[in-house]
Amino acid sequence: MTQDSWEKHSNWWQREFTRGADPEYEEQILPLLKDLAVEGGRVIDIGCGEGQVARVLSLNSAQVFGVDPAWNQISEAARRSTQEVYGQASAMALPFKAGAFDAAVACLVFEHITALRQAIMEVSRVLIQGGTFIFLLNHPLLQTPGSGWVDDYMSDPPSHYWRVGHYLVQHESLEEVQLGVRIPFVHRPLSEYVNTLSENGLQLERMLEPSPPAGFLERNESYRAAAHIPRLLVLICRKR
Ligand SMILES: C[S@@+](CC[C@H](N)C(=O)[O-])C[C@H]1O[C@@H](n2cnc3c(N)ncnc32)[C@H](O)[C@@H]1O
Repeated sequence: MTQDSWEKHSNWWQREFTRGADPEYEEQILPLLKDLAVEGGRVIDIGCGEGQVARVLSLNSAQVFGVDPAWNQISEAARRSTQEVYGQASAMALPFKAGAFDAAVACLVFEHITALRQAIMEVSRVLIQGGTFIFLLNHPLLQTPGSGWVDDYMSDPPSHYWRVGHYLVQHESLEEVQLGVRIPFVHRPLSEYVNTLSENGLQLERMLEPSPPAGFLERNESYRAAAHIPRLLVLICRKR
């Protein structure tokens, strides 16, 4: 289901979120990955899409491999490649031997994957001991399904606040992100991610919760009030 949706909607993703179309990638995610300067001879980008993250990673790494199950994504990634290499594979079965990589990155991918445990086991398996895993997610606490602004005109004075949805309930949904574009999404509490990482030898070293970038806040009057509500979560882990 996930794979079919992404295959079908790769063009939507590439049009709306790559090559400068999306301020969160342009102003935040790609610069942040550049600053983190993920170093190492061999780096894997899991769920690489059309390769925008892999292209940034290749600025500091000798060899970057991008994998994604959607052919429409990796074929475009290969076309846009500067020097990275791409292959068709799922996070649940990475076609590499144990300890093949010095670092791994997954950017906004695991919230679309049902088999979290299997995918994290695979990340850990392909990393060398001491290797780094940079894990970027839509913030699972503050962007829980059902979250959003509430205008309460019954209170005195009227209030405007951010409601958090049912955070503790793991929940799979098919989200209509644009008319006719339905993408599977899995909400899990943050503890589910951190504990699964830890149980698979990936120790959390740093966590980043950046404020949304100016270009995003400027897109809509109602977004401006969201400056204090992070949309992105970055977990930086080391393999024990
Ligand atoms: C939101 S896009 C992110 C793409 C890229 N990481 C980026 O940041 O530009 C999610 C990507 O996850 C991929 N994906 C979906 N299921 C996957 C799986 N089981 N294993 C690896 N990637 C998967 C999709 O094909 C899609 O390219």
